[in-house]
Amino acid sequence: MRSPASSPLGSPAAEAVPATDVRALFPALADTAQVYLDSAATTQKPLPVIETIHRYHNSGTANPGRGTYPWATGLATRIARIREHTSSFIGAEYPDEVVFTGGATAALNAVTLSWGLTTLGDGDEILYSPTDHASNVYPWLHLRGLLAGFGRRIGLIPYRTSETGEADTEDILTKITPRTRLITASHLHHVFGGLSTLEELRGHIDPAILLCFDCSQSGGHLPIDVTTLEADFAIFAAHKMFGAPGTGILYCRRRVHDRLVPFLPGGNSGTRPHARGLLAGTMPELLEGGTPNIPGILALGSALEVLESLDVDGIAVHNRVLTVRLIDGLRSVPGVEFLPGPAYATCAVGYGIVSFTMDGITATDLGFVLSELGFLVRTGAHCTPGTAHEPDSVRVSTHIYNTLDEVDRFIACVRSVAEEVG
Ligand SMILES: Cc1ncc(COP(=O)(O)O)c(C=O)c1O
Repeated sequence: MRSPASSPLGSPAAEAVPATDVRALFPALADTAQVYLDSAATTQKPLPVIETIHRYHNSGTANPGRGTYPWATGLATRIARIREHTSSFIGAEYPDEVVFTGGATAALNAVTLSWGLTTLGDGDEILYSPTDHASNVYPWLHLRGLLAGFGRRIGLIPYRTSETGEADTEDILTKITPRTRLITASHLHHVFGGLSTLEELRGHIDPAILLCFDCSQSGGHLPIDVTTLEADFAIFAAHKMFGAPGTGILYCRRRVHDRLVPFLPGGNSGTRPHARGLLAGTMPELLEGGTPNIPGILALGSALEVLESLDVDGIAVHNRVLTVRLIDGLRSVPGVEFLPGPAYATCAVGYGIVSFTMDGITATDLGFVLSELGFLVRTGAHCTPGTAHEPDSVRVSTHIYNTLDEVDRFIACVRSVAEEVG
């Protein structure tokens, strides 16, 4: 049994951003007694995002890139601007490194199919974490199966997660071989809430090894710079950053572009027929076959504007303050045990995600009780395929619209349940 670091977290309440004005931006939070603590599943949508989606369907609806009339060309121009905006938002060097996908899962599958299927040879190895989200595990398992069908056997080498919920870079270093081609990691873990930058690997591994970061949980929560991360691939889910479902961002660094093939060839994918198949076009069209999720991309543009107006650094501070308060409060509740994560850190860190179990009640039952009492949290295994060693848990996740008062009421509620079951 782990023993959490004894309350090293101090009293950071003074740094908390007042959430009252911010909440007015999110209509679903108005006039409700519910306390939404499930932003890791999806974030609430701010008014400008909702209006953008409505406006697209209400006026000037067209298919960008499919017409020469102003409604279509105007949309194509807007999407090009949003690509540029997205590129600067995530710290990419060039807009053609940004691909719009159908979501984070689609983006991760694009990596395995567009890069892995043609690039990996017999005996090549990928390092991954079995505790990552299924969307960063199953595509790799699927790729291994597909390649085996072509007689190429690749190794999927698991690495460990540390007590603080981060990728264990010491373990990664011991597992790197001359056949390692790519390391994939959660930038912010969806259950443990630990941040992994893989910084410790820099200068110690062959720079030819590609790095893939699943930023689904960190996008819109923390300032992200894919260039500083030295990412070759980075994945974002728009619906977890105030945008709409069905839209994702796949960052592909230019150095990998000539190794990519279309995973969704079709209209607008820039490919041309060739005697032996298809001639690949250029990025980003190469990976964007078919009509894009137009309202989703427009909504992403509005979401980025909202995030910038709220200031992503400020959002990160706010989430840290709430997380630290949450950990400090839950630490003293009898029977609560934290899953790996910032609760075990020796300093005051936190990124808006905390998971725990409670003696005497299953996570599912606790989730039901909490929802009856107005607290909306996620329970279960949280789409993690390799958690046989971890029990189902309650995951609490915060965002800029949550308040210290909500966190305090949540802790009080958990305490009262603990007293009942204890
Ligand atoms: C870390 C992580 N990666 C990938 C995904 C998949 O995102 P989507 O379902 O939007 O494709 C999620 C969703 O919860 C996630 O938390």
